[in-house]
Amino acid sequence: MVSLRNIPPIGYTTQNILMSLGTVATSVSALLFTSTVLLPLSVLRMCLPASYLCRPQPSRNVVLIIGASRGIGFEVLKKYSTMPDTTIIAASSSIKNLRDAASSLGSPAATIELQQLDLKKTPTSINKAIREWDTAFGPITHLYAISGISNHLDDNKPWGLDVTDDIIRVNITGTVSAVLSAYELMKERSYGKICIVGSVAGFSSPANMISYASSKAFINNFGTDLRCLGSSVGVDVVTVAPGFIRTRMTDKMRSQDSSAPGFEFESPEGMATAMVNGVEKGGIGLVSWPWRQAIATYSLQGLNPLCDTLGRWVTYKAKMSGKKIT
Ligand SMILES: NC(=O)c1ccc[n+]([C@@H]2O[C@H](COP(=O)([O-])OP(=O)(O)OC[C@H]3O[C@@H](n4cnc5c(N)ncnc54)[C@H](OP(=O)(O)O)[C@@H]3O)[C@@H](O)[C@H]2O)c1
Repeated sequence: MVSLRNIPPIGYTTQNILMSLGTVATSVSALLFTSTVLLPLSVLRMCLPASYLCRPQPSRNVVLIIGASRGIGFEVLKKYSTMPDTTIIAASSSIKNLRDAASSLGSPAATIELQQLDLKKTPTSINKAIREWDTAFGPITHLYAISGISNHLDDNKPWGLDVTDDIIRVNITGTVSAVLSAYELMKERSYGKICIVGSVAGFSSPANMISYASSKAFINNFGTDLRCLGSSVGVDVVTVAPGFIRTRMTDKMRSQDSSAPGFEFESPEGMATAMVNGVEKGGIGLVSWPWRQAIATYSLQGLNPLCDTLGRWVTYKAKMSGKKIT
């Protein structure tokens, strides 16, 4: 319940005003640096011959896609399935879902291996599975860690400790176990590309996305830092922050009274194109798509804590992400 006690005291309001001024100064500095230093370098990049931008490639790409059975992951699987000299290790928690997905591909140019992997399992068992696949089908050159869950999938499941624990196990512990297992293997060979899927919800989100958005904020942060660490050992890390994409997850959210307009939901195929482009092109640390949602949600990180809390409360009450707590 909102009461007069919620009116912020003068000291806190002053601190928030100073934080906003600091954000303006930081933002203007970043704008100037990006426009005067990085933009000319990007123009120079356009003029360079393609050979200058390529790293020595292994003769065969071995692409591990976790979450390949549906949604965004399935669209990434479709893209690599058309590439010859490629082995895809397609993984998800259900081998049946993977078989259904693979059979819809017809006769792919790539070799596809279907493997069951439940990200709720222990980090040790996830590490063991990835090492076994690396020996059997590898060396793994690419990892797409796409799997993720929210509490929208079951209409009747109330939010609480169990739901939060599942979200942490799949979206954080399981995902990080897979990423670090592949990272260690790639580091030994000084070659690898890792794509980790966070979310724009990790930048800013309605308050009822509490556990899901917190898990995605972790992944956004983890991926960005791993990119810095990986750059000195030959591993390229790309973080993906999708906006609203039409998949099972958001179909369920929309059926649960989401007020987000239908036209805001973009195709998983478009999201996969942006991801594969980001991974293969180089020089891109964050793939956030569609641009309009990426720009809007990223900018919201510049809000001071008072306005940030207010915004999360208002979008929760407006049911932007539906009526469920996830
Ligand atoms: N759709 C959006 O608007 C949106 C926005 C921001 C971020 N994202 C993120 O994008 C990623 C893909 O989401 P999506 O929209 O494509 O969702 P989706 O259609 O529900 O697909 C989720 C994928 O995760 C797999 N998965 C679920 N639980 C798993 C587990 N325990 N172990 C291994 N795999 C598991 C599923 O495979 P099985 O069911 O076969 O196991 C499926 O392949 C997620 O990380 C999601 O958080 C989506």
